[in-house]
Amino acid sequence: MPVYFAPGRVNLIGEHTDYNGGFVFPCALDFGTRLTIVPNSERILRFRSTNMPQTVELPAMGPFSPLPDHCWVNYPLGCIAQLVEQVELPSGYDLMYEGNVPLGAGLSSSASIEVVTAYAFNDILNLGLDRTQLALVAQKAEHTFAGVHCGIMDQFVSAQGKPDNAIFLNCDTLQFDYVPLRLENVSIVLTNSHSPHKLDAGTYNQRVSECQEAVRQISRCKPIGRLADLTPSEFQSLQSAITDPVILRRARHVVTEIQRTREAVNALKSNDLTTFGQLMNQSHISLRDDYEVTGRELDTLAQTAWQIDGVIGSRMTGGGFGGCTVSLVKNEAIDTFRQTVSEVYQRETGLQAEFYIARTGDGARRIE
Ligand code: GLA
Repeated sequence: MPVYFAPGRVNLIGEHTDYNGGFVFPCALDFGTRLTIVPNSERILRFRSTNMPQTVELPAMGPFSPLPDHCWVNYPLGCIAQLVEQVELPSGYDLMYEGNVPLGAGLSSSASIEVVTAYAFNDILNLGLDRTQLALVAQKAEHTFAGVHCGIMDQFVSAQGKPDNAIFLNCDTLQFDYVPLRLENVSIVLTNSHSPHKLDAGTYNQRVSECQEAVRQISRCKPIGRLADLTPSEFQSLQSAITDPVILRRARHVVTEIQRTREAVNALKSNDLTTFGQLMNQSHISLRDDYEVTGRELDTLAQTAWQIDGVIGSRMTGGGFGGCTVSLVKNEAIDTFRQTVSEVYQRETGLQAEFYIARTGDGARRIE
């Protein structure tokens, strides 16, 4: 009875750059989704999850199409639908998912479900796909079965993660480097806003289209394929081609965030955590003012953190609105950080923040 695991992720910097062909810098976490697979003779795919009440049963011979009402089974099903284009399933399977990624926290529980499914079926059916190909299968599942036109970051890091390393990924070429996280007396602290505001598929897809619109308008002056094709100084000289002020701000976030991500990785490689932290803070400000995906809850968390001694940097992570902030905090300041952030957050929003010390982990794998 094989058991597989794929992790969730936290992105350290490089937000909303992936679908623009830019850089991201995430790491895989040690929490994620476990999948136990047992063949059955009923020729049925039976999906169960410890986090969801309903069992979903589908004929194993397909054809597969998206299920209604945002059903979670769309994440695995979207992967299986692609893999069975190559080979027919030899039997039915009982699939049991057990996730410990906090749901709705923006830590990619859905990517971990997709990637663990793609990894497991690739193994069972001997398809020979590599980790990058599996990430692409998982991303396509999200596009076609969940309706979110996401970039590749979440699925890529869930497939390729490595403990104590972040991944510096070029989302255009999919070339990447592991960068050791030499943090010594500093921890990566995740603060869950438990905000009721979520980044829904509609708002996410709208940001994707706004970036495409920016590319279209800039291309009237200089043809480009994606916003990542522009350096910040080229953007300065071409920005007047963008007529709509909202589109201009969206594009400015993307171009400056790509540059910040490069600088942050260089800073980390030269052990300059102070610069890394300042770039995290600037990233949050740009997501707040130009990309407009933060909201009062995430702003309160980040802005409170910036005032605390021993906090090196703090920003929202993931898609935005709800979910988590990621902060680099000196170990001796963690207690004060928790206490101060909790108090201010509760007072300002009436909500209770939750804290996790992030531990990095491996990418998708068979565990039993
Ligand atoms: C979500 C998407 C990613 C990425 C981030 C924002 O997590 O799934 O592809 O776009 O938002 O950086």
